[in-house]
Amino acid sequence: MFDITWTQGAYPALEGLIARQLAVFPEHGGYLGKRFAGATAEELTFTEGLAEIVTKIAGDELDGCCRDYRWLAEVVLEEEIFFRRQGRYRLSTFEEANAEIYSNLAYMTRYMNGLLLSQIWWHNHTAVMRYFREVYLPGNAPGARHLEIGPGHGLFLYYAARNERTAEAAGWDISPASIARVKATFAATAQPLPELALVDMFEPNDRRFDSIAFSEVLEHLEQPAEALDAIVKLMAPGGRLFLNAPVNSPAPDHISLFRSPEEIIALVEAAGLVVEDSLFAPTSGASLARARKLSLAISVAVTAKKP
Ligand SMILES: C[S@@+](CC[C@H](N)C(=O)[O-])C[C@H]1O[C@@H](n2cnc3c(N)ncnc32)[C@H](O)[C@@H]1O
Repeated sequence: MFDITWTQGAYPALEGLIARQLAVFPEHGGYLGKRFAGATAEELTFTEGLAEIVTKIAGDELDGCCRDYRWLAEVVLEEEIFFRRQGRYRLSTFEEANAEIYSNLAYMTRYMNGLLLSQIWWHNHTAVMRYFREVYLPGNAPGARHLEIGPGHGLFLYYAARNERTAEAAGWDISPASIARVKATFAATAQPLPELALVDMFEPNDRRFDSIAFSEVLEHLEQPAEALDAIVKLMAPGGRLFLNAPVNSPAPDHISLFRSPEEIIALVEAAGLVVEDSLFAPTSGASLARARKLSLAISVAVTAKKP
């Protein structure tokens, strides 16, 4: 059983969240023990801040969100079994994902709630969120016009909108449930609402942005190279891209399978962008070398610039 007193009260929001999660998912104790084993004080301090925000966002629905996380973990396990047996993701077309998931409000709401908690429970998600806040955003020039495509739960957009270098923030998504989730995230944290719109990124658009976040969307698309071309068109000259996509990471709506971090870097470069920095964050409990060897999930965060 996971000992929730291991931080001795130094991280109260995180400890509180762990207790609530384990109340509805006691079998997850062993996993959480591994996930936080060896975490540094800096990681725990960032995670504590994230836990405070997630607790606020979930509000009265926290226990429901923890149940939705449990559901998500079980759904992902089924996808993992398929992936290990077949060597591919279950779905291969956007149409299938749209029919099963994006257009299904109840499924999408559960999925986003589960992903909200995964930002804390999955080491790779927390590491990428921290990279976005502490490395990517401070690199933007002051006055940045920032866009997130596919903001989902809204946490990346929340950090971007609050950053002192961001002058304008916008979020585009094709899912009404995601837009509603982002609105709820900003309401719960008493932040002014960014511009939010139901926009398909593949539709031609005259808007240009200095900073674009594209997190956990690439693997949901049938044509990732076309998606990157569409993003490059939306970037102002000298604009920056924060891309986050996982390799070997089965999920109910993952379509494009990337087998190595280098495959993702090559796609970004092929779109004409210059890769300036990257973070390869392996799944909880695995080193990068072990994750590569066993084809385990690795989140790949890339900072790239339009020349
Ligand atoms: C898994 S969520 C990502 C949430 C969040 N960015 C994160 O990193 O966890 C993927 C989001 O991309 C959105 N999406 C998928 N295809 C899209 C498209 N063509 N244009 C805009 N948004 C899209 C989905 O509706 C969903 O909200």
